[in-house]
Amino acid sequence: MSSKIKDILMWDESLFRNPEVFDLSYIPEVFKFRDNEIEAISHNVKPLIKGDLPTNTIILGPTGTGKTTSVKLLFREINEVSNEVIPVYINCQFHYREFSIMSQIFRGIFGYPPVETGKPLTTLYEYTMGELQKKGKRLLVALDDVDFLFHVNIAESILYKILRAHEIFPGVKTGIIGIVTDNAFSFKVSEKIRTVFMPNEVHFKPYSQSTISEILRYRCDIGLYPGVMDNDVLDKISEITFDRGDLRLGIRAIKEAGMLAELGSRKKITTEDVEKAIERISSSLHVENVFDGLSKTDKKVLKVIAENSGKFTKANDFFNILADEMSYELFRKATTKLENLKIVDIQRAQSRGRGKQNLIHLRVPKEAILEIIKE
Ligand SMILES: Nc1ncnc2c1ncn2[C@@H]1O[C@H](COP(=O)(O)OP(=O)(O)OP(=O)(O)O)[C@@H](O)[C@H]1O
Ligand SMILES: [Mg+2]
Repeated sequence: MSSKIKDILMWDESLFRNPEVFDLSYIPEVFKFRDNEIEAISHNVKPLIKGDLPTNTIILGPTGTGKTTSVKLLFREINEVSNEVIPVYINCQFHYREFSIMSQIFRGIFGYPPVETGKPLTTLYEYTMGELQKKGKRLLVALDDVDFLFHVNIAESILYKILRAHEIFPGVKTGIIGIVTDNAFSFKVSEKIRTVFMPNEVHFKPYSQSTISEILRYRCDIGLYPGVMDNDVLDKISEITFDRGDLRLGIRAIKEAGMLAELGSRKKITTEDVEKAIERISSSLHVENVFDGLSKTDKKVLKVIAENSGKFTKANDFFNILADEMSYELFRKATTKLENLKIVDIQRAQSRGRGKQNLIHLRVPKEAILEIIKE
């Protein structure tokens, strides 16, 4: 069926023909502008496909430049061309304990997560690498946002465990792709990684405004009905997206602006829709980016903090509301995770003693959190 006829049949006053293309987890079918970078990473990985040790890679670049997407696409290709190489993608924002990372690798190799038996990390490690050795398969681990592992001081240990597995399990071949988002600390982090292993560096440069515009136009073409997004409105979005330096803002702004236009029963998105949309999502974008990676417990804790921020700041006051549902240890873990994700600040008590307590402050508007939790 031609897409025009499909459009007629499907038209239901909605401006979206595929709303999911504006979701942050959506992986676009057409992914241009990163061929050189993906090729460079492929060259590093190739020996592993052939049965040798690969060159390890570190990917560096500003936020929203396609680093994560490129690796996910490459992993998809690897799965198609090889049964021998097991690619495992791990986001270290959410998995920043050695046990948790090793569990992800276990899952990649076995196809199911390890049963929780309280066995120590070394046992899990032996099972995992032992299975790799037994199957005669090779392992490629992508550690996204690997800088998180340096914050919690487990980076060296886990990198060595993966890269030197062959010392304990002869014949096992492993490789790493580390991904670091450029920020004030990334230089230091990449220096540290260099001392652990000598990776080949692949840099993802920021997109130009015209590239951003082309990427966003393509999203509109597949996600919206024809005529909904005029070029001058899209130019406005591209300009703001370029200035703010995060492609995600543009992608989400199109969806939000489309919904505002629908609410106003307009068949086209206007510049005012865009301006309003950008104002609304700027604050929530960060929460949205990390929200899917939160556990149920993390979300419960976050909800209580958001609902009561402004009323009190003492950690214990938040905990008291949750005391029936979780232990203090779980609560503490969740707040530490939210701190690492830059959603809350924890002001730690300088000394122990009566009345000395940690204070928790939200770093994002509480409305942004309550809205996303409601969804
Ligand atoms: N070349 C491209 N073509 C189409 N979409 C793209 C392109 N580059 C990035 N995107 C989109 O932009 C968003 C951000 O991309 P991605 O998550 O890969 O960035 P990143 O470099 O990993 O960012 P961060 O450093 O913040 O983790 C995603 O929705 C992705 O689909
Ligand atoms: Mg990323």
